[in-house]
Amino acid sequence: MLTITGLIYGSIMREPGEPYERHESGERERTAAAADAHERSLATRRDERRRRGAFYTPPELVAWVLDHALAGLAPGAPVLDPACGAGHFLVAAARRVGVAAVHGSDLDPEAVRIARERLAAEDPSVPADLIAAQVVVADGLSAWQGRRFAAVVGNPPFLGQLRRRTAGQSEDSRRGLGAYTDTSAVFLHRALDLVDEGGVVALVQPLSVLAARDAGPVRAAVAERGAVTDLWCSPRPVFEGTPVLTCVPVVRLGAGPPTDRDAWGALAAPAFDIPAVDLPAGAGLVGDLATCTADFRDQYYGLVPFVRDDPGGPTPLVTSGLVDPAELRWGSVSTRFARRSYDAPSVDLAALRADGGLARWADARLVPKLLVAAQGRVIEAVVDEEGAWLPSVPVLSVVPHDPADLWRLLAVTLAPPVVAHAAARYLGTGLTPGSVKVSARQLAALPLPVDAGAWAEGAELARSAQAARDGERPPLLAATGRAMTAAYGADPASYDWWWGRIRR
Ligand SMILES: C[S@@+](CC[C@H](N)C(=O)[O-])C[C@H]1O[C@@H](n2cnc3c(N)ncnc32)[C@H](O)[C@@H]1O
Repeated sequence: MLTITGLIYGSIMREPGEPYERHESGERERTAAAADAHERSLATRRDERRRRGAFYTPPELVAWVLDHALAGLAPGAPVLDPACGAGHFLVAAARRVGVAAVHGSDLDPEAVRIARERLAAEDPSVPADLIAAQVVVADGLSAWQGRRFAAVVGNPPFLGQLRRRTAGQSEDSRRGLGAYTDTSAVFLHRALDLVDEGGVVALVQPLSVLAARDAGPVRAAVAERGAVTDLWCSPRPVFEGTPVLTCVPVVRLGAGPPTDRDAWGALAAPAFDIPAVDLPAGAGLVGDLATCTADFRDQYYGLVPFVRDDPGGPTPLVTSGLVDPAELRWGSVSTRFARRSYDAPSVDLAALRADGGLARWADARLVPKLLVAAQGRVIEAVVDEEGAWLPSVPVLSVVPHDPADLWRLLAVTLAPPVVAHAAARYLGTGLTPGSVKVSARQLAALPLPVDAGAWAEGAELARSAQAARDGERPPLLAATGRAMTAAYGADPASYDWWWGRIRR
């Protein structure tokens, strides 16, 4: 059974300084207070905390993880937290399987010392040297070789490439995963080798694990070994001191059917109020009709010397902020490019051609095309029928093989089921959870509609929407959305969701 749980911010966040656990007594209270003090002291040493990725887990989330990962485990079943910090998971797990059954590692010796003390306070009958042998100062990515646990739980550090390097973390412990794979996903990958068939891995992850390209090999490894059987995720941050959104995929080894590596985002979509859509296959993909391209920093920086503020300029530079659904706002709102504000950024094409460097690039872009903002509340795209505009990174270009397809492609970007599909599939990869982010590769992979008649109607409406004056555009956009919902044979719920997002 898959349960999707969206928790609400207020119910899980502690106030700063609020003790981790209440109603404790004696030694338990003293050691829990030591964990709090350690955590508070890390919070004041912000650089160190960031370097270590030490953001401790709220107790409600610890309880949710253990309810799902340890359900049905007999006392004594071995449990591991490979990045145990001051032992919040270990103490809570010990209350379910016993102190002698829990194992932990962390690089922070003070945190490990506190975790050991807390476990000793839980059950003074367990020898201290047993606890010391099972809760160790070690790198959780390389310790525990050859060991098997009934469950691996916890909240491993979230460290991107840069911070990993600052932390001096070795790249060989990364087991051939890409340099951009977040450390937390490497912990998840490693944990799959540390549990038996039927065992469970439940590690807190950044929301981006659901869809990030660099976590793809980790999701594929999960599909090979088992399935995501439960998922916790929250549309709001629950970790004090960081805005990072998180989730907990509960992976059961040997469970089936395997979870498609590209479908984790769809599992979380309901918690973000994104309607479920099942796009029909078989009618082809956007990539069959057009070439989708992203530009790079070379083009961005290369353009800087040739951009002027010129409302009469024949070659507008189109930044993301200027692209709305079926509308180019160039000249009507100001925008920023290369740290400067422009009312009407225009490219001096003669000077650019004389310079030579970007001449071929500009010629390739100055063709009839669709320009798509890489990120927005919906997919935002506009048709450049004359081929007169140049994209500014990260605006994407969609160049149809046949210019007659321009408006049909615009209609695809305005199709609510397509936008809901992209929002779910690429959930957590945008700057904010509310934004729909698409890359050129992802645009090319969007499916085409099955109902040709409704698609043709949608294309005509999309053309009228782009031609309309401001006040007249909304009803035409709405009509396009309805026609394209029909073109995909989709539920009207996706239209309501999309229209709600467009209107805001
Ligand atoms: C996010 S904290 C979580 C701690 C604990 N799981 C909890 O929620 O209470 C991550 C912990 O990972 C530790 N850490 C960082 N890199 C590590 C590594 N390579 N091996 C083990 N622990 C590591 C940090 O010291 C920190 O205590």
